[in-house]
Amino acid sequence: MSKSTPAQESKTAGTREQLIEHLNQDLSREYQAIIAYVVYSKVLKGAQYMTIAKELEKHAAQELQHALKISKHIDYLGGMPNATPKPVVLSEKAEKMLRADLDNENETVREYRKRVRECEALGEYGIAEDIREILRQEQEHQTDLATALGEDVPDVSR
Ligand SMILES: [Fe+2]
Ligand SMILES: [Fe+2]
Repeated sequence: MSKSTPAQESKTAGTREQLIEHLNQDLSREYQAIIAYVVYSKVLKGAQYMTIAKELEKHAAQELQHALKISKHIDYLGGMPNATPKPVVLSEKAEKMLRADLDNENETVREYRKRVRECEALGEYGIAEDIREILRQEQEHQTDLATALGEDVPDVSR
């Protein structure tokens, strides 16, 4: 009786449509990151923040590359890439900007780890490979931000 039907099984593994939907959420997070890094890298003031401001400018360029890759895969899967960023926190306080960035990167890392598993469950190994490379850079972003805030990199594995 407990044997699941093929439909139920594919629901557990996730469907192609769900993967497209989740990648579109990832894309919205990438747009959010591009905007935040463009603004923050120019608004951060003070000698102690000059190094991280330069770093954030590099992040902006990397996030754009991520957005392009994720859009390509959404299109490949037969979906339509969305055009809406998640909301960006605006503040003139350096600490608040860096905190918002770190929170977003934590969420991004958590989600991309799930996405690698979803892609592999669907046999989309090529997409999983690209997301692994993106994930590696997101973890570097996490480290840069945590270091600027004088903290350890948060454990997002739970
Ligand atoms: Fe990114
Ligand atoms: Fe990032």
